Amino acid sequence: MAVDLLLGLQWGDEGKGKIVDVLTSNYDIVARFQGGPNAGHTLEFDGIKHVLRTIPSGIFHDNTVNVIGNGVVIDPVVFVQELDGLDKFNLDYKKKLILSRKAHIILPTHRLLDAASETSKGKAKIGSTLKGIGPTYMDKTGRNGIRVGDLELANWKERYRNLANKHEALIGFHDVQIEYNLPELEKEFFAAVERLKELTFIDSEEYLQQAQRAGKTILAEGAQGSLLDIDFGTYPFVTSSTTTAAGACTGLGVAPTQIGEVYGIFKAYTTRVGSGPFPTELFDDAGAEMARIGNEFGAVTGRPRRCGWLDLVALKYTCQINGVTQLMMMKGDVLSGFEELKVCTSYMYKGEEISHLPYNIEPENVEPVYKTFPCWKKDLTQMTEVSQFPKELNDYIAFLEKELEIPIKVVSVGPDRKQTIHRD
Ligand code: IMP
Repeated sequence: MAVDLLLGLQWGDEGKGKIVDVLTSNYDIVARFQGGPNAGHTLEFDGIKHVLRTIPSGIFHDNTVNVIGNGVVIDPVVFVQELDGLDKFNLDYKKKLILSRKAHIILPTHRLLDAASETSKGKAKIGSTLKGIGPTYMDKTGRNGIRVGDLELANWKERYRNLANKHEALIGFHDVQIEYNLPELEKEFFAAVERLKELTFIDSEEYLQQAQRAGKTILAEGAQGSLLDIDFGTYPFVTSSTTTAAGACTGLGVAPTQIGEVYGIFKAYTTRVGSGPFPTELFDDAGAEMARIGNEFGAVTGRPRRCGWLDLVALKYTCQINGVTQLMMMKGDVLSGFEELKVCTSYMYKGEEISHLPYNIEPENVEPVYKTFPCWKKDLTQMTEVSQFPKELNDYIAFLEKELEIPIKVVSVGPDRKQTIHRD
């Protein structure tokens, strides 16, 4: 069986949590392949709203096994808080949640280093969620990291101590003052590690290979978005993992030839949280309206998200990089009250009109060129089928499909599981 992928095509927060939850009934296994607790995947069902950070969104389905792959970085403290948050749902998560031994552990000092590094950057800061993501991936590629499997070894605390000491020295190297109480943080950390060890640790690449051979269906769940990819995103304002399709291969041990459908998720407009270039960003009432109606606040940090029109140049780029086979458009309902809407179809770049994403998309280098559409006035949130869609929405979808040459198979008209319309 092929492994299907689900990816965000913008700067994250496209609504992956909701779609994984909707799709999960079709899959035996949901496997997360990168990122860590910097993600906040929001799910809504039966009047309940829940945010997941590291745990895959399939956890709410009875018969789905949830795998945390080797490409993920796990903070035991946050993870245990997440498990505690699941208690009220009466889930038997110990049976349904398994962790790769090769996933890396976020230490308390990784979080402190993240804070020291961000603070020292001043105005040039990335806008990191400060969850220790960057320093943990640095230790992974620097071959210093501590992995889930190491927690089973007798000497892991010695390795921990050496690494934490080195981190403290590095914190001191930054020219900033960071207040912290390491013994307190360590107490919490070691207690959380003991809870983590109650879960099942596996060689997840082997587990997934066997599952495929046994005919199990697998959905690989990405976090963040393609424009935050460490290589193809708006570097350096990116996260530290491979958020694009290739990340599923390295983050789960799935061969490229085993990839099936690539579901790409995008909002009908664009948002970004944190710093970095955003060519179609709006600074006027329209942007404020998108933020208000779309409730555009970060699920992890609560920070307001920057809002702007859909950037088709960037979307084409991420569709290509990922080999997207099916698109899912989120939050069309947010635009319902707008008189008209715009889509950026090209950029003016060094006096020339271009339709690809150049190396440098800072405001001084690119100016978006827009096509304007009349907006749908009708409330979409109560709609249940495509035949109810207003003409303007159908025209918008048809335009995007023609430009992207990929079918839009799902249109989401609200946060609830039920507000999901399939187009065949
Ligand atoms: P970090 O991954 O926490 O270091 O953050 C790096 C950049 O990625 C910052 O601009 C964050 O705001 C952004 N980022 C990280 N995770 C997410 C996410 O799940 N959604 C949206 N933006 C994110």
